[in-house]
Amino acid sequence: MRIGLFGGSFDPIHKGHLSIIKGAIDNGDVDIVIVIPTVRNSFKRGKILNAAPYRYYMTKAVLDATFNPKQVFLCDVEFYIPGISYTVSTLKRVTDMSYLVPFLTYRGVKPKKALEEHKFFWLCGSDLLPTFDHWYKPEEILQMAGLLVAVRPGDDTDIYEQRARLSQEFGFEANIESFVIDGVEAASSSIRESQSFDEVPAEAREFIKTHALYGTDDVMDAVSDEAAEKFFQYAADLYDYLGEKRLLHTINVGLLSARYAKIHGADVDKALIAGLLHDCAKELDLMEQRDLARRRSGDVFNDKKLFHSPAGATFAAEKFGIDDEEILNAITYHTTGRGGATMLDKIVYLADKLEPARTYTDLTEMREVALVDLDEAVRMCARTVAEKFKRQGREMHPMTAEFVRDLGM
Ligand SMILES: [Fe+2]
Ligand SMILES: [Fe+2]
Repeated sequence: MRIGLFGGSFDPIHKGHLSIIKGAIDNGDVDIVIVIPTVRNSFKRGKILNAAPYRYYMTKAVLDATFNPKQVFLCDVEFYIPGISYTVSTLKRVTDMSYLVPFLTYRGVKPKKALEEHKFFWLCGSDLLPTFDHWYKPEEILQMAGLLVAVRPGDDTDIYEQRARLSQEFGFEANIESFVIDGVEAASSSIRESQSFDEVPAEAREFIKTHALYGTDDVMDAVSDEAAEKFFQYAADLYDYLGEKRLLHTINVGLLSARYAKIHGADVDKALIAGLLHDCAKELDLMEQRDLARRRSGDVFNDKKLFHSPAGATFAAEKFGIDDEEILNAITYHTTGRGGATMLDKIVYLADKLEPARTYTDLTEMREVALVDLDEAVRMCARTVAEKFKRQGREMHPMTAEFVRDLGM
């Protein structure tokens, strides 16, 4: 098969990306396209981008709605490549038959086809060609894959000249082909800057709205470089432990916790990390959750719905190396609260209930109050939870009773 590989940050994915994928297929240049969102970017680049799971799942929503699922595949390989992911290392992995054959057959490609000898093409826009030789190990890239360059009408890039230039530089005939696409002109960076989302497909716009992405006031500006680097790394690492919905929830909680910390004068870095990791153990096997919970808190949490909180603290310590007790406590008590709760405890408790994707009840008022009076917002939240427990005939955990008593309820 002729396999197109299309990598990018997709922050956000836009109609220009779609026209490249569509153009390559419609032109008959490739049989299938594998779309590969970048995950572990260099820190400098990563800090201006949204966390990888947002970009990955936003891309998924658009591809699912746009293309034939037997022709265009989303690929999560970069979550599993440690260290900064460069095109060359991603290509090496994806073109390796031990990775590729199961990847394709799992997506419905017949084994016979999947096992054929394939030709690989890295899809890109023509703007990339003049600087291609500055990429990391460009000649190795060209030995594994050709470049399939999308050219827009009116684009005056001279493909022949670029091919000759690169062939001479690398000392072998560079395989560079081109195809013409329609005139969609868009760039993620200008979409982010202008906040104008006309060139963004509807599914991505919906996703952006649900998770409140691309706000004008970026809370990451208030976060230290060290915490930001950890945040992006842990968010990518969590992909292995949490499904889509919970992973996006927990990242939302991290960012909202940081926002509350900034507003109310708490430690922004700690809030970001505690919020991000608060549910990290929630999809582990229940027995494993119970064991991890016991190691943190003995028998204090005896309800299976509560295991994941103390278990999360143990997991955060052992898997992510978190040794800050304030962070570990905020994770431990995020479901129950506790007597003498710290500001960080309250922030994570609240962000968990109020993050943008939450819709269990009308949260408008609580969200407004949370921006001005943390304790009052916690009281409102705790009241809603208490009412729910009453309706369900459930006993409140003794720690929650202490929590609300301290709040003067
Ligand atoms: Fe939780
Ligand atoms: Fe949660």
